[in-house]
Amino acid sequence: MALTLEENKSLVPYHTFGVQAQAAYFVEVSSEQDLPAILGLPHSPKLILGGGSNLFFTKDFPGLVIKNSIGGIRVKEEGSDWVIVEAGGGIVWHDLVMWTINKNYGGLENLSLIPGTVGAAPIQNIGAYGVEFDTVFEELTAFHMLTGEKVKFDRADCRFGYRDSVFKGAYKGKYIVTSVRIRLKKKNHVLALEYGDIRKILQERNIPEPTIKDVSDAVVMIRTSKLPDPAVIGNAGSFFKNPVMQEEFYEGLLSQYPDIPSYPVGKGQRKIPAAWLIEQAGWKGFRQGDAGVYDKHALVLVNHGSATGVEMHQLATAIKTSIEDIFGITLESEVNMI
Ligand code: EPU
Repeated sequence: MALTLEENKSLVPYHTFGVQAQAAYFVEVSSEQDLPAILGLPHSPKLILGGGSNLFFTKDFPGLVIKNSIGGIRVKEEGSDWVIVEAGGGIVWHDLVMWTINKNYGGLENLSLIPGTVGAAPIQNIGAYGVEFDTVFEELTAFHMLTGEKVKFDRADCRFGYRDSVFKGAYKGKYIVTSVRIRLKKKNHVLALEYGDIRKILQERNIPEPTIKDVSDAVVMIRTSKLPDPAVIGNAGSFFKNPVMQEEFYEGLLSQYPDIPSYPVGKGQRKIPAAWLIEQAGWKGFRQGDAGVYDKHALVLVNHGSATGVEMHQLATAIKTSIEDIFGITLESEVNMI
């Protein structure tokens, strides 16, 4: 297929934060076969873009942006109660979730409505409502950005952690994920209902024996009630990771802030919601110009219209500094800054 290389392309339609930025060069790839030619182009640096829902631009991008639009969803293997589904890296994540729910395959229902693409899911090990992506992950195919070599990664290769993988560490920016295989349940699927308000919503809806679709519907309802729709207000979901700390440090905080929420995460460690810290520090609903903190969820930074990437970055830095000053905790960004 003939490839269209565009110049000075606005990136506004290709990321969810709504900040102005341009790519010096831009190309969309919709088939794995076209990749070697694109990766062989001399323009550099190269940046892979999925749904653009977990990054923001503080300046124009001087090299080649490659928009991953590789599609296709198919069953690769199945047994009596399990199935392995392969999806193209450019598929919209929620479209894959809906495809599996229509087939009544269990595993992705708690991950409904997470913005972004299939190819980005393993990179940041997306997670929500008690389920992390790596629990369903089987294998992925990726191409090395410099050599064009096609490589398969299994679970161990990916080194998954909380919102983390080898693709955010040692292999950052080094691979483009072209397809992902996940293992789902056709029968005997165990639903995860304990996190957040899922059970409460099912009770309110009078559903004592929920289906996979009921759980997905509940998650969609929770997310739409407290997280802003990027089509309406620019944002990239949670801006910071929830910090993990030693139990002793947490005990010290608890004596000062008896209401502090937390979750034990093993190895004598605790995770604290960054949203709580940010709200306590008074930032929830804050707005300066068009850069702000969402009024219904303090972990989401929003662009009310024409905030620049630099302004969003300044706000994030001010929040980070204040959390350090008040609580002695260093927040780590979850969103990639370009
Ligand atoms: N909270 C506040 N103020 C707020 C919002 C929340 O104090 O404005 C406190 C409450 O105590 C609440 C707790 O924070 O119980 C946790 O809030 P929530 O359940 O909304 O989850 P989160 O920890 O803020 C994480 C993920 C989300 C995911 C939700 C649900 C991270 C960085 N974020 O958020 O993922 O949807 O759990 O599972 O782990 C994303 O990564 O972009 C994302 C949206």
